[in-house]
Amino acid sequence: IIKACIFDLDGVIVDTAKYHYLAWNRLANELGFEFSIEHNERLKGVSRMTSLDILLEVGGLTYSNAEKVVMAARKNEWYLEYIYKMTPDEILPGVISFLTMLREKGIKISLGSASKNAMLILERVQLQSFFDAVIDGNKALKAKPDPQVFLLAAQELNENPTNCVVFEDAAAGIEAALAAGMKCIGIGSPEILGRADKVVPGFENANIELIKF
Ligand code: BG6
Ligand code: MG
Repeated sequence: IIKACIFDLDGVIVDTAKYHYLAWNRLANELGFEFSIEHNERLKGVSRMTSLDILLEVGGLTYSNAEKVVMAARKNEWYLEYIYKMTPDEILPGVISFLTMLREKGIKISLGSASKNAMLILERVQLQSFFDAVIDGNKALKAKPDPQVFLLAAQELNENPTNCVVFEDAAAGIEAALAAGMKCIGIGSPEILGRADKVVPGFENANIELIKF
């Protein structure tokens, strides 16, 4: 029986992938290439530094660690320009009513995100009050598909992993949830998220039935 829900942030609660893409492509352009949108799927769910490694691989470029740290910081500054402008209007359809329903049923709620900007985004869209725990990229040091982020969420909620369900839009996140021994629901397309226990396009019309297995 499900007692806790753990939500990925980017692509599940808000669509920040478009902002990540704009900032990464700006970096790519500065380095002399175009990071086409088709490659963007590979950046979903993975850490900032891994995203940079994928970008540089696409561009066929190699840099030292010190240079990469500088590049990632610049990308993040550009990304934050978009994040600061976010408003609650950007919460994906159905999310607020689904979270409200979970609260009413006494189901615990955590965030489980790779992003170091997660707290800032939750504040911008005014959703912090829904979360009993927030595990982000500052707390979880091992990147998805490692299960650490979700296991820390279960620990903070004081729940057994088998009583938790994870909501994820990225293949790496689905693998992390499965490795944590949790149920998992893919948000997006079955072609990409086929390993999830269920896949739905989003939270519109979602009710308690969604978390019954
Ligand atoms: C994940 C995104 O949620 O967070 C990834 O899906 C991103 O694309 C990662 O790279 C890290 O985010 P941030 O905000 O710490 O750069
Ligand atoms: Mg995501």
